Amino acid sequence: MSGVSATGRVALVTGAARGLGAAAAVALAEVGASVVLCDIDQAEVEDQAARIRANGGSALALAHDITSLAEIKRLVAGTLAHYGRLDILVNNAGICPRISIEGMTEESYDRIMNTNLRSVFFLSREAGNAMKPTGWGRIINVSSTGGRTGGIFNATVYSASKAGIMSMTKAFARHFAPDNIIVNCIAPGTVNTRLMSNLPQASLDAAVSQVPLKRLAEPSEIAKVIVFLASDLASYMTGAILDVNGGAVMP
Ligand SMILES: NC(=O)c1ccc[n+]([C@@H]2O[C@H](COP(=O)([O-])OP(=O)(O)OC[C@H]3O[C@@H](n4cnc5c(N)ncnc54)[C@H](O)[C@@H]3O)[C@@H](O)[C@H]2O)c1
Repeated sequence: MSGVSATGRVALVTGAARGLGAAAAVALAEVGASVVLCDIDQAEVEDQAARIRANGGSALALAHDITSLAEIKRLVAGTLAHYGRLDILVNNAGICPRISIEGMTEESYDRIMNTNLRSVFFLSREAGNAMKPTGWGRIINVSSTGGRTGGIFNATVYSASKAGIMSMTKAFARHFAPDNIIVNCIAPGTVNTRLMSNLPQASLDAAVSQVPLKRLAEPSEIAKVIVFLASDLASYMTGAILDVNGGAVMP
């Protein structure tokens, strides 16, 4: 992204093995950040980090399950042990199993909430505290239009988790403002990733028909907004929610 530099910064991206997280890691590396790619899928995240290194970037893969506070602590400690600092956190990892209200179990409810929302709370706290010493920091939370609409295609709990991310963004923005750590959120519409592959084609077509731009987003288009929020260009924004959805929802 021309005009933006993250040289010298260290960025941690969760869910970075594929999809939006991988695109964010690539885009941050392209503007000069050293990137820690975290994912529960060890083989895939190591491959993704290797691809960034092959293109001249600095990247470290760390396999952790971000539903666990103990693993989150190990993730932040591993980042600091390798790079000595942490400047940018992208809370991206998320799951969206399609389960109806009637079909939802306690186990699935907890898994969705713990992956999508609990992780954002504990990782923002742990990573934000690690950013304090430099007096500069960025936390970018990945929500969804579902957080605005309540979800349309069997995504009730997912969408509630994404609405929770919007709320937490505002609380953490206030909490870390005295440390010059800004906290913002993006709410993507429908993006062309594996997460959407569990949606029947007819539902996908219906979703696209509601988008004024009449297409899905590519992960790289979302990643550009993440890079902006991670940069000095966003210096006077905090607690904001950016809708990146082709016009599908205009709150
Ligand atoms: N694809 C879309 O249309 C869309 C739209 C709006 C928001 N989003 C959000 O964007 C984010 C990324 O989605 P995506 O489409 O790239 O999905 P994806 O399924 O392609 O990638 C998600 C990644 O998160 C990882 N992950 C899942 N659980 C984890 C855990 N417990 N610990 C660590 N890593 C874990 C997965 O292994 C995977 O690599 C999610 O938060 C999703 O809700 C996606």
